Amino acid sequence: MGYVGLCTAAAFASRGIRTIGIDIDEGRGEQIHRGKAPLHEPQLNTMRKNAVKKKLLDATSEISVAANTNTTFLTVGTPSQPDGSIDLSHIKNATEDLGNALSDKSGYHLVVVKSTVVPGTTNGTVKRFLEQSSRKTIGSELGLCSNPEFLKEGTAIDDALHPDKIVIGSNDKRSASELTKLYRRFYGSKLPPVIMTSPEAAELVKYASNAFLATKVSFINTIANIAEQIPGVDVGTIAEAIGLDPRIGPQFLKAGPGYGGSCFHKDFQALINYSQNKNYDPLLFRATEETNEQQASRVVVLAEKLLGSLSSKRVAVLGLSFKKDTDDIREAASIRVINHLKKKGAQVVAYDPMAIPNTKKKLLDQIDCAENAHSALKGADCAIIMTEWNQIRKLKAKDFQAYMKNPNIVDARRIYNPEEFSGLNYLSIGLGPSTGTKY
Ligand SMILES: NC(=O)c1ccc[n+]([C@@H]2O[C@H](COP(=O)([O-])OP(=O)(O)OC[C@H]3O[C@@H](n4cnc5c(N)ncnc54)[C@H](O)[C@@H]3O)[C@@H](O)[C@H]2O)c1
Repeated sequence: MGYVGLCTAAAFASRGIRTIGIDIDEGRGEQIHRGKAPLHEPQLNTMRKNAVKKKLLDATSEISVAANTNTTFLTVGTPSQPDGSIDLSHIKNATEDLGNALSDKSGYHLVVVKSTVVPGTTNGTVKRFLEQSSRKTIGSELGLCSNPEFLKEGTAIDDALHPDKIVIGSNDKRSASELTKLYRRFYGSKLPPVIMTSPEAAELVKYASNAFLATKVSFINTIANIAEQIPGVDVGTIAEAIGLDPRIGPQFLKAGPGYGGSCFHKDFQALINYSQNKNYDPLLFRATEETNEQQASRVVVLAEKLLGSLSSKRVAVLGLSFKKDTDDIREAASIRVINHLKKKGAQVVAYDPMAIPNTKKKLLDQIDCAENAHSALKGADCAIIMTEWNQIRKLKAKDFQAYMKNPNIVDARRIYNPEEFSGLNYLSIGLGPSTGTKY
């Protein structure tokens, strides 16, 4: 019942499919059932409330209830081990618990691996653990599919209701057709394209998708860093122009402080590690990751351009979540930037509309947190824009002027119009000096 599990469950329930969310975290079940969604995602709380009221969504920590259902989706986390390889411990535990719960069930049960796992996991670890603990055979009493998830935090509900594709990897016809049947019921006449393939190919589709998107981000950030050196050049124009080429497309060409979130970095690390174990070194992917890591220090370099030494300077970081409309700070660029700022001796005060509680858990008392953008800006020597929240986007040049000690602004998300900030010390990622100069 994390981001993927809860949003998927709420979406299923919203279309009349009775769904039970299971999580080892007992508090989570209780929150879903009675209180408020345990994570921030637009539309989720209303959807959860309605579905619980109609008795279409239930939540528990008791996995034995899985035996009373037809299909179980595994949506547990797949974090990184210290060497970057995938940590399958949650998958193993959940699969084992599920197998035990299904051991006395009579009749067919379909198990679907929705978590992101390296190729071979569904047919290897999951199959082995499931067969051992259930004492049943996959292909007869048990069905098994890989069905990677492509939803994005911040628009997870919308993505779950309107995906651009469904990828199903299976070994046998029955499990693939049972899962398709469920999706047909869910999407009705709006069933998106379904790609049927092997579990290993389905697993690789997910990594390929994330790797491509992350590479696009590091690509445009590389162009941004070059553009910054050229008077009158703004990377936004470059992105707009190349994005019009249908072979390139406009999405994911927004220069910024580097990608974050729970997936790109960890999935890249898992894929690089997996590939190296197969004796192939994916150079391009290592470069994408390194470029991303460096991008956070580029943000700090812009602050130093404005302020000189950052030692003892008060820096307001506006936005902490890895993107707007989520409270998730996992691998957020803001955390990398804050770490650099702290190393340089800056005093950091941060504001985020949703992510302060998660940030406090991670950074403990290393930074001060403000209740709103204005109080974060109060007395600051520099403001760094790290997330494109609407609350931050709507700030005007006069807000920075009125509250800050010195109105130095680093717009790492490129959310403001440089012309409106012309009277202030304003630098933005990918914006060359004196943009707008007429030649
Ligand atoms: N977050 C995303 O945007 C996203 C998108 C697509 C795919 N994915 C993939 O989906 C998977 C889940 O990601 P997430 O962000 O939802 O993770 P998450 O950390 O938000 O949620 C995982 C949940 O699983 C629970 N859990 C752990 N072990 C369990 C067990 N044995 N039994 C029952 N519950 C258990 C945890 O308590 C937690 O609530 C990952 O593989 C991730 O890579 C995530």
